[in-house]
Amino acid sequence: MHFLFILVLTLFANFNDGQRIGSSLQPRHYDLVLLPIISGSSPRLCGHVFIDVEPTTSTNVVTLHGVDITILDVSVDQDVGVKNETTSSFSDDRFLQLEDLCFSGLFAPVSRVFQSFQDDPERQQFSIILKQSLKKGQRYRIGLLYMAKVSDESKGFYRINYKTDDDSCCHEGWFGGTQMQATEARKVLPCLDEPGFKSTFDIIVGHNKAMTALANMPEMATAPMVTTRDWMWTSFSRSPLMPTYLLAMFVTDYHHLEQVYQVGERTVKLRYWGRPEQLPYFKHIMEVTPKMLHYMETYVNQPFSLPKLDFITAPINLHFEAMENWGLILFRDDKLYHNEETDSEDDRFYRTQIMAHELAHQFFGNLVTCDWWSDIWFNEGFSSFLEVDLIHHAMPNETFRPEAAQLKGIRSAMKFEEQHVKPLTVVRQVETADEAESMFDAISYSKGNGLLLMLRNFVGRETFRRAVATYMERFQFQSVNSQRFMEILDEEVHQDREFGRTMNVTKIMNSWTGQPAYPIVRCSRTSGGRIKLSQEPFPMSYDYSSHGNDTRLWWIPLAMTDAKRPDFSQEGTYPRIWLTPDRPTLEIPYFPPLSRHQAAEDAENSWIFINGQSSSYIRVLYDKFNWHLLSRQLMLNHTVIPKVSRAQLIDDAFTLAVAGLVEYETVLDLIEYLTLVNDEFVRSTSQFHLQWMKERSRRNESLYQLFEEYTRRFKYEKMDKGESDEYDNLVRLDATDPLDGIDCHNWSDGVCVDQVLRLFRAQMTGTITSAEKRAMFENLERNWCVVMRHAGKEEWEWAWRTSLRDLSSSQRTKILSAMTCTTNRGQLKQLLARVFSPTIDQNPHETYKTFEKMAENPAARSMVLNFIKNNWESLERHFKRPGDTLKLLASTAKHLSNTEDLDEMSQLISELQNKDNKLDHSVTAGILDGIRSNIRWAEKNLDEVYSALEARVITRRTDNPSANKICTSKSTCSL
Ligand SMILES: *[C@@H]1O[C@H](CO)[C@@H](O)[C@H](O)[C@H]1NC(C)=O
Ligand SMILES: *[C@@H]1O[C@H](CO)[C@@H](O)[C@H](O)[C@H]1NC(C)=O
Ligand SMILES: *[C@@H]1O[C@H](CO)[C@@H](O)[C@H](O)[C@H]1NC(C)=O
Repeated sequence: MHFLFILVLTLFANFNDGQRIGSSLQPRHYDLVLLPIISGSSPRLCGHVFIDVEPTTSTNVVTLHGVDITILDVSVDQDVGVKNETTSSFSDDRFLQLEDLCFSGLFAPVSRVFQSFQDDPERQQFSIILKQSLKKGQRYRIGLLYMAKVSDESKGFYRINYKTDDDSCCHEGWFGGTQMQATEARKVLPCLDEPGFKSTFDIIVGHNKAMTALANMPEMATAPMVTTRDWMWTSFSRSPLMPTYLLAMFVTDYHHLEQVYQVGERTVKLRYWGRPEQLPYFKHIMEVTPKMLHYMETYVNQPFSLPKLDFITAPINLHFEAMENWGLILFRDDKLYHNEETDSEDDRFYRTQIMAHELAHQFFGNLVTCDWWSDIWFNEGFSSFLEVDLIHHAMPNETFRPEAAQLKGIRSAMKFEEQHVKPLTVVRQVETADEAESMFDAISYSKGNGLLLMLRNFVGRETFRRAVATYMERFQFQSVNSQRFMEILDEEVHQDREFGRTMNVTKIMNSWTGQPAYPIVRCSRTSGGRIKLSQEPFPMSYDYSSHGNDTRLWWIPLAMTDAKRPDFSQEGTYPRIWLTPDRPTLEIPYFPPLSRHQAAEDAENSWIFINGQSSSYIRVLYDKFNWHLLSRQLMLNHTVIPKVSRAQLIDDAFTLAVAGLVEYETVLDLIEYLTLVNDEFVRSTSQFHLQWMKERSRRNESLYQLFEEYTRRFKYEKMDKGESDEYDNLVRLDATDPLDGIDCHNWSDGVCVDQVLRLFRAQMTGTITSAEKRAMFENLERNWCVVMRHAGKEEWEWAWRTSLRDLSSSQRTKILSAMTCTTNRGQLKQLLARVFSPTIDQNPHETYKTFEKMAENPAARSMVLNFIKNNWESLERHFKRPGDTLKLLASTAKHLSNTEDLDEMSQLISELQNKDNKLDHSVTAGILDGIRSNIRWAEKNLDEVYSALEARVITRRTDNPSANKICTSKSTCSL
């Protein structure tokens, strides 16, 4: 914050800790005129804002948020009436004043209503001490003339320069726009920048006539500027009550496609903005968006609040995928358009998923807002959670991807929790802007998603939906705490006879949102045909020593099914058993619904499955015998257990083995069926874990070889028809998949090497058929990775040249990621050096992804680490965002697992700490802790792993090929 006045410092005590503003002023309305100059060498932002406020106590101190804002003039008007309409006259002095200020640097402060300013950059606030007190209950209009910055990174008001394919060479375009979440609005205007404050907004933007200005609400009027040729003002109609973080303005020369969303008499204008060459690719998103919007409106039982909804793509440079600005959603580069020819079905799905998330936010977050950042998990979790339903609705043929994506998300949150040195709760203390920013992590999004899924499972879908509708109805246009939602659920469930008055949703959910990590549920049979269930916290950071005195307990709903009547349906995964803090262990007769009709012996021989379809946020630890029965089931007929539950079972087993709670022998038994059938989703889950183990055995040549031999036993051929339809991969559904290797002798990650090399070469020479090309693009990164690993110089150079062409960022990222699979040091060096190449101008996001991926390649790992070490400062400048280089280091270091690596890394970290005292200590500690726990794991487990693998590989060597068929009876499948 800079001021042009010489200030008299006055002391006043009106602050909370941190950067929150006291509540002595209630903002009611903002009337903002903004003039951004985005092109040229001195971009700048001139603004004038009237803020209508009501003091809640009499005070002469007006405290507002502001960062890098220079206040030029202040006015205070008393007793302004509520203005009904947005300023319609552009001849006001205000507009001339802004023109003068921004184009000529002229301004003349007139009012002298204040005594002094106090700047408080630490708190990102400033205060105006007025000559007279504002009285409680009155309404005042505070006017502020100011200048602010136009940034080159996507924070506050920013600009992006991009090249377009104009007919003449290299037309340069400028894109200007805003990113306010979490706490960047204070860089664009002085304001009360907290999600708990909702106000209405009138916005007017000045811009060049060749550009279009967009804001949250529809355009209302335009007028040419008085003294500046070719410039004009565009005004927008008044917004409903909303928080500052959802404000949005864009200035572009984009074109758009338009469609009308209509329900009865009501219409919402949907506009999709992009560069002219992008417009043909909006087809898919225009097809799904109205459907998903309709689903949302129906689900929450509220109409979309605004008369229009714009979607706009920024020419990359964003550090996020999309932003849910109310009525004006922003997407990263290619996340809005879909090229049927070159993008994959995964891309199509992912784009739909992002759109689903942002549409959900129009209600969760925008219509009802969390009153503070500590609660952001509720917004993000809800929007993530609803993605599955929205996609099912808009793309009914996508049956598996949405569920798989949800499971992956939830599991990645668990992994995040398992490895985090500083355990985090879902609801956290937030005081500063940095803390608010740090809330946008896997815990808020994916654990939030997992907790809501669990909540819906135990209260029931219908009760849950009713609570959502009540919540929306009751709190629309307000900011509230997520506890309000739990209270509504409590009201709902108490009307329900089945629950009676015993269930307390608030209390149950508090045990999940207020404690870090999650519980393991142990399930074991006792003699006498009973089942014992108990809970314990997952050992944090694999630090087993502290395990004993951890007393965290949860309210855990448990869904349970068994071999006699396997039921993984919605009904079947409804939790009928609870472990609670008061009753953390429980003994039940063998699965009550069946016990009456079943011989005890029979029951003992049938497996139990807890937590089907990931219905609770837990991992399950069975006794050895039950693991064995489950393995046998998978060998006999794996489809009895649905894919999501299979993957979850395998993921639990591997993870619990790392924590020392399951033997590797048992885990490998569970995945033995993968040698019989091609079960892609589970195989990739298993391979993720096997790869992790294999990396830690790098020092042991023979064990490493054994891993190679072991994973070669998996079935890759796509022959199992039954379940593969679930995948609904259009290419797969074609009669022949060119990548399906008949007579393939060299499989690599499920791709037949000979086939993919042939196709790649056909692509180089332009002799590839369109079906083959489609198949190559369908899994571009994996296919090209195989090529890069097995082919030579020509293929590499062709790939390199391709990566330089005009591609969408997701295409380029895939190609660069694939190229990291080479083992040639020269090529790897080329790829690293690319980041600083003056001719290439690599996007930081691509750099990050490429480096991260490259570190997975053992041949490249030490090169990446050395490169980061030797180019630390340059990388920091390249990434722009502080902390990114360290995060990248953490991401690459997670593969390290021996003592020399540890020493080297400690050395590097202490050097970095000497240079930079702002280095995040929790990240550096996490890096070293991670390596240490990798070392511990290797010391403890490698022998066991060796013999378990050896047993299986040797069995195979001596196997008679006919025994390799799918088992059809118990006897051929005995384990
Ligand atoms: C403002 O709107 C309200 C309600 O719509 C109306 O009663 C009032 O007369 C209007 N005031 C002015 C100044 O137009
Ligand atoms: C969905 O699948 C059905 C049946 O397989 C097919 O007829 C239909 O065209 C598909 N729809 C889309 C949008 O792909
Ligand atoms: C539910 O639990 C919360 C928190 O423990 C408590 O404040 C509330 O009164 C309880 N509600 C009911 C209906 O028992």
